Amino acid sequence: MHSKSVLMDSPAKINLSLAITGRRDDGFHELTSVVCPLSLCDRLVVEVAGDGAGDTLECSNPEIPCDGSNLILKAAAAFRSRMGELPGFHFRLTKNIPHGAGLGGGSSNAATALVAMNRLTGNPLSIEELEVLAASIGSDCPLFVSPRPRLITGRGECLEELPAEAVDALREMRVLLFKPSFGVSTPWAYGAFRQQGEKAWVDPAEVRKQIRHWLADPSDVARLLYNSLQPVVFGKYLALAVLTEQIRITFGLPTLMSGSGSSCFSVLAADNPVEEVKAMVIDALGPEAFVATVRCFAGGSE
Ligand code: C5P
Repeated sequence: MHSKSVLMDSPAKINLSLAITGRRDDGFHELTSVVCPLSLCDRLVVEVAGDGAGDTLECSNPEIPCDGSNLILKAAAAFRSRMGELPGFHFRLTKNIPHGAGLGGGSSNAATALVAMNRLTGNPLSIEELEVLAASIGSDCPLFVSPRPRLITGRGECLEELPAEAVDALREMRVLLFKPSFGVSTPWAYGAFRQQGEKAWVDPAEVRKQIRHWLADPSDVARLLYNSLQPVVFGKYLALAVLTEQIRITFGLPTLMSGSGSSCFSVLAADNPVEEVKAMVIDALGPEAFVATVRCFAGGSE
């Protein structure tokens, strides 16, 4: 054992584009998505609990289950079955990322737990091996092993690097992130999408064309914004459809739902009146809504 505990940031993400291009034999959907990890982070402290101790989790948010259904404990079980005999780990999670939000919070916590356990045991697994292990926990998990803006494909587990200029442009981006008090179930959103049949699938060549169009001027993030799941989620939760349209019309801000919702984001320009946009969000969604101005995750945690 190298050290007894590590503290790590576990970032949220937004999907700047999320195109569903088909259905896979395993029942999942085939995606092409540009994702950006965010400065909005949970905090995870992982301690070696000693030989013979089981893995345990405590969380600042009492609504989050701390039993075996939590992805952190699933990550611990996956790490243990990959590595063989290990001491128990104790996880302390401080939750800042809303859940049921399409922000990847649970997936990020699981991937961060894998990186932390790997570090505490002298880094036996490479980044690539951790990404493979992460994919067994959830489609979104691998991208959080080394969080940076990326293109993801497959069911979400295949990671492609973006050109340096595109990553730089996303690091300059500022977004207003907001979420109503209710969440959206990811399996429900994909199920509702499926009801529409194959006509809702996006041609993969069209998606690549849209991404190439963005790459010609990566500072123009609006070129990228697309979400296949947005019409079905907005069809059920009309307040989100009305609010995002109102933000677009009043402030001219490109606005999109992230992942399977219910969080949405507006891409801000330097001179945007953020307080006025926030006031519009609170007016529409009520004071219990989550609202935050965030940037791309700038990495690095110890
Ligand atoms: O992989 P993960 O457990 O995060 O996925 C949650 C749910 O989202 C799946 O059970 C499935 O219903 C849906 N999903 C999908 N296609 C994907 C990713 C997720 O259908 N590529």
